[in-house]
Amino acid sequence: MQLYCNPASPFARKVRVSAFELGLTERIELLNITQSPVNPHRELRAHNPLGKIPALITDAGETLYDSPVICEYLDALAGANRLFPAPGPARWTALRRQALADGMADAAVLVRYEQTARPATLQWQDWIEGQFLKIRTALDALEKEDLDTPFDIGAISVACALGYLDLRFPAERWRETRPRIGAWHAAASERPSLTATRPA
Ligand code: BEZ
Repeated sequence: MQLYCNPASPFARKVRVSAFELGLTERIELLNITQSPVNPHRELRAHNPLGKIPALITDAGETLYDSPVICEYLDALAGANRLFPAPGPARWTALRRQALADGMADAAVLVRYEQTARPATLQWQDWIEGQFLKIRTALDALEKEDLDTPFDIGAISVACALGYLDLRFPAERWRETRPRIGAWHAAASERPSLTATRPA
């Protein structure tokens, strides 16, 4: 299998962490690419019309996207519902947490593009603040949750979203008012799957 990815992408990291947790790392060749909304990658677009990473080319030659689909595919390949619990309360919680964390990462990536790809004179501070409001509200919601559950797709998504905030927005200092997720993230970050995929 081949994975279009970038070391900084929180969504590509989700896939790489999932593959690591499932013991599938050796079966995936990483195709690291760099692109932006104003500088799309032609070869990637031939596989994923949306031009987004991560995109996985399976051994059968089909391209899968986006990260929830790829992670669920890898989980099925490994068997036994290890990252995606079988239908029932644990599954709905894991999927909801994945949606919450992915939404947080989405908002953070949009701010990153606004601040790095858009000319300074065209940047819109109210819009940036609107994205940060989503991130901060999601963090506050996570602070109230019990994350000490099996390391499933919900936990992987949360860990990767928090890692992206640390990478691109260290000034946000989200831990200062959210000690419970801070402690959870510190412990989760020791997992080999997260240390092996930590962006430089
Ligand atoms: C980044 O450099 O922040 C980034 C790279 C790829 C996808 C998303 C974000």
